[in-house]
Amino acid sequence: MRDGLLQQQEFGFDQIERDVRLDGSLQRAFPLTAVLSSNGKKTQERNDLFRRFCDRMFVDVGLNRKLVSYQGNKHEPGFRWFKYKEGFSRSLVRTLLPQQQGTHVLDPFSGVGTTVVAATGLGHVGTGIEIMPVGNLAAMAVAYASNGIDMGCLEKQAKALVQYSVHGTGNRMEQMPITQGAYPRKTESALMRAQMFISKIDDPAIATVLTLACVSILEDVSYTRKDGQFLRWDPQSGRVVSPKLDKGPLPTVREALGKRISEIIADIPILERTYAGHIPTLVNGSSLNELKKLQANSVDAVVTSPPYANRYDYTRTYALELEYLGYGHEQLKALRQSLLSATVENGSKRTSIEKDYGEDSLAREAFRMADEQPALQEILDNLTEQAHELSNRNVIRLVKNYFTEMAVVVRELGRVVRPGGSVFMVNDNVRYHGEEVPVDLILSDFAEQSGFRCQTIRMLERGKGNSSQQMGRFGRHEIRKCVYHWEKPDG
Ligand SMILES: C[S@@+](CC[C@H](N)C(=O)[O-])C[C@H]1O[C@@H](n2cnc3c(N)ncnc32)[C@H](O)[C@@H]1O
Repeated sequence: MRDGLLQQQEFGFDQIERDVRLDGSLQRAFPLTAVLSSNGKKTQERNDLFRRFCDRMFVDVGLNRKLVSYQGNKHEPGFRWFKYKEGFSRSLVRTLLPQQQGTHVLDPFSGVGTTVVAATGLGHVGTGIEIMPVGNLAAMAVAYASNGIDMGCLEKQAKALVQYSVHGTGNRMEQMPITQGAYPRKTESALMRAQMFISKIDDPAIATVLTLACVSILEDVSYTRKDGQFLRWDPQSGRVVSPKLDKGPLPTVREALGKRISEIIADIPILERTYAGHIPTLVNGSSLNELKKLQANSVDAVVTSPPYANRYDYTRTYALELEYLGYGHEQLKALRQSLLSATVENGSKRTSIEKDYGEDSLAREAFRMADEQPALQEILDNLTEQAHELSNRNVIRLVKNYFTEMAVVVRELGRVVRPGGSVFMVNDNVRYHGEEVPVDLILSDFAEQSGFRCQTIRMLERGKGNSSQQMGRFGRHEIRKCVYHWEKPDG
């Protein structure tokens, strides 16, 4: 079989798209194209992997961007309080969760808790692990609000909070270089007073919901806007910026907080009907340390979406929120390093994982799996050969670290998921310097080495285009956005 672009007939697909039924939703087999290297470099290993999985790859016309992204949560009670663009929708989770109640559902990258909150609402037991405190705060706020929060007390405290925050002067915020000058002085003062007020509330449910209310308005009342990787700045902040952002007159804390609190109060009766059950277990920490504390065979289903290997840095996007929750410059840098490696700044965690696992051979097995994965090694070799042309050589390290760490996670899932249990994972493929990285295939190979059988890799009808820079140099070739289903055979 030659390298490069493979024709789908070689995999036994008809040229003509056809309808098939799988998992109850209408799907089409798709004229699949195999792995590309626009640089004429080797693709043999990736194509071999593609050939292995291609009969389980489908385009699912029922999957769309709205379902696999936060868009679907934008108007959802509870989830609309805090805009977490990296989340997936509650509707997606509902379609993937087991029918049978009382099962243990895990999300090792739980974000704002979409999986675990939806799971507990459907009568399951939910465990989430999330490293960004802002994610767990949002999840806890929804969980508390769904499970018998004292409404009278909440309304009273909320009113007092708004009053207290806008009168008098608060302390200065300890700002970090990346957030310096984010708020008008009066706004900063009101935010600090709000924080002081909440610190005196004893009821954890009310304190959590009101803290989330404050955190959720930070972007609105600041001179910044989240824009992809970065915060964009309005020149009103005094920063010299380009391209310019014009936010116009900013809302006051009173206005923004008042609006968010009304939304929260309006949503609570709906949440009580939708998600009441129990408070899920939400672990603040890294899956690379926390998964190993879970018992073997204790989980029935995993519904998750890890960070994508796309250079996205959560600590930059959520710098304002982290600062409000007490993070300083050094702590932010440390948090950035602890996140699953997905940026060019992440160093290797191999030594610390090794140390943490000690005699336990799981990490060693995971490292072996990554080190010996032929398609991954092919990508790393190709990128290394072209290192002098890369806009940032650290993408090589990024790819290596990403898969090494994901190998540990997948291996752990293989241990904690019981026979007959399933993993559903939402993830995007990536492409660096014309080298396609089939994240779906490599992780599914890890899964099959960890005791799962890859049942399906369901793709969105439209993948993701390249960045305009890549497109100019390497042509247009869509990158797959997928939901994988791995199942652990029974018995
Ligand atoms: C794609 S988002 C998941 C969003 C989630 N599905 C939701 O609906 O909110 C990936 C999440 O993984 C988290 N994360 C990154 N590294 C982590 C680690 N080592 N352990 C646990 N969570 C981590 C990020 O903070 C982010 O919230």
